Amino acid sequence: MKVLGIETSCDETGVAIFDTEKNTIVSEQLYSQAAKHALYGGVVPELASRDHLKKLIPLIRLTVQESGYLLSEIDGIAYTAGPGLRGPLLIGASAAKAIALSLGKPSIGIHHMEAHLLINLLESPAPSFPFLTLLISGGHCLLINSRSLGDYEIIGQTLDDAVGEAFDKVAKILELGYPGGPKIEELAKKGDASAFNFPRPMTNKNNLDFSFSGLKTAVYYECKKFKQISDNQKADIAASFQTAVADTLLNKTKKALLETELNELVIGGGVASNKFIREKLINGLEGNKIFFPPIERCTDNGAMIAFAGSFYLNEKEQDMNLDIKPRWPLSELNNG
Ligand code: KG4
Ligand code: ZN
Repeated sequence: MKVLGIETSCDETGVAIFDTEKNTIVSEQLYSQAAKHALYGGVVPELASRDHLKKLIPLIRLTVQESGYLLSEIDGIAYTAGPGLRGPLLIGASAAKAIALSLGKPSIGIHHMEAHLLINLLESPAPSFPFLTLLISGGHCLLINSRSLGDYEIIGQTLDDAVGEAFDKVAKILELGYPGGPKIEELAKKGDASAFNFPRPMTNKNNLDFSFSGLKTAVYYECKKFKQISDNQKADIAASFQTAVADTLLNKTKKALLETELNELVIGGGVASNKFIREKLINGLEGNKIFFPPIERCTDNGAMIAFAGSFYLNEKEQDMNLDIKPRWPLSELNNG
């Protein structure tokens, strides 16, 4: 089966084709709107919609062309149905359904966070259900007991800011630009992580929830103490902040592994591309099997949607009526 995947939930237009027989992504295209939104310090939904509209069809054409297949050889189309921005989601869903209808092939709406999780199964060695999942992205920070395909119990989540959101907000405070995650990671390499003792929020609480808004506020007040911040001081703040985030993620993930008695951990989402956080988790969780997607498949992409689609197009009837779901808790998938 050849699955065309379309991702348009936020500010990346991602398209890919997954071939189940070859068990590989045969072609993929990714266009990031980040530079456009950087002017405004964050994603502007209306601008995002317009850009998806402009880029999506040419990217689909290019992806199909580079795969060497004809569009008519595609067996099904997967698109991100949610969670995400309403306008951008509608554009991906409409394109997917229109193409599916014209080809007489099925289309399927995919949960964006499930796709972030499942893409790990394309790697070798691959994790096998059940496993613990840590999803760290711009909109989510979730600890999940992943029992089987489509059967996810959320056992911990952020009470306020998502972890990527905290990176983006701290980058804004430090005037580093958008998206903040990669900029903070880069700057932190030059900084002293022990220069500032930022809080490790909720780590003294006996639960699996997170909270990153207080940490962001602590960074804000620390910055306000300076009349003018030097590049060195910014680097120290970036390194100290990143370490506080990594310690917090490690603390909660360790607790979750103990509590669930699982020993496989699957990580995904944009923040999982952060090498410092990867190392921290790998070193701190020795004795467990830890799975990350390749760096370029951590942030939003079409490959994860095409791959996730291959599971559901196998099992489900053609579904032309699924509405987009800008808010869609992973625990409400009900496929399990
Ligand atoms: O998964 P993703 O591409 O989109 C969502 O589903 O939200 O994640 C984007 C988030 C942004 O907040 C971005 O700043 C963060 O991931 N991010 C990073 C890094 N690369 C992206 N955070 C920390 N370090 C990175 N290297
Ligand atoms: Zn994402």
